[in-house]
Amino acid sequence: MKIHTCILVTLLTFNTAVYAQSGPASLFQDLGSEAGISQIVDESLLIILQDERIKASFKETNIPRLAQLLKEQFCVISAGPCKYTGDDMKTVHQGLGINAAQFYAMAEDVQIAMDKLAIPPATQNRLMAKLAPMKRDIVMPQTRP
Ligand code: HEM
Repeated sequence: MKIHTCILVTLLTFNTAVYAQSGPASLFQDLGSEAGISQIVDESLLIILQDERIKASFKETNIPRLAQLLKEQFCVISAGPCKYTGDDMKTVHQGLGINAAQFYAMAEDVQIAMDKLAIPPATQNRLMAKLAPMKRDIVMPQTRP
């Protein structure tokens, strides 16, 4: 009995120590770190650029640059070790006349991309929760519902 208790205490202590060291997996890790985020952004852009609801907005956009900035941004908002080097969302999107339906269309495209990459729904929702508050800076004020 005493030996068993000792083993149990040792195991619990060990597990707690390992957990304290690594903590719960961050969203960044759950998205597959830099490589996973890179895939999510590339796949999302493929879908976005074919989406009749929004593709016209990107006619004059430097897509490789946009991809790079989105990768940095997704890394930062998921608490990854990156630096976002683009402009703030308000500055970038004001004047583009983006409406709420277009915002939701883009969010949907990112979700379709994550489905394709088999990212679990709970993880998808955690990324969506980080993107959702950006709506107020991206959508043109008059078009808010
Ligand atoms: C959660 C939603 C969105 C996020 C996180 C997002 C993020 C970004 C980022 C990081 C950039 C690059 C910033 C920079 O150039 O410094 C960008 C640029 C851009 N975004 Fe968005 N965006 C979102 C929604 C949208 C929507 C709905 C549209 C249009 C339908 C849109 C159209 C554009 C365009 C056209 C550019 C390029 C602007 C330029 O080259 O000057 N974005 N976005």
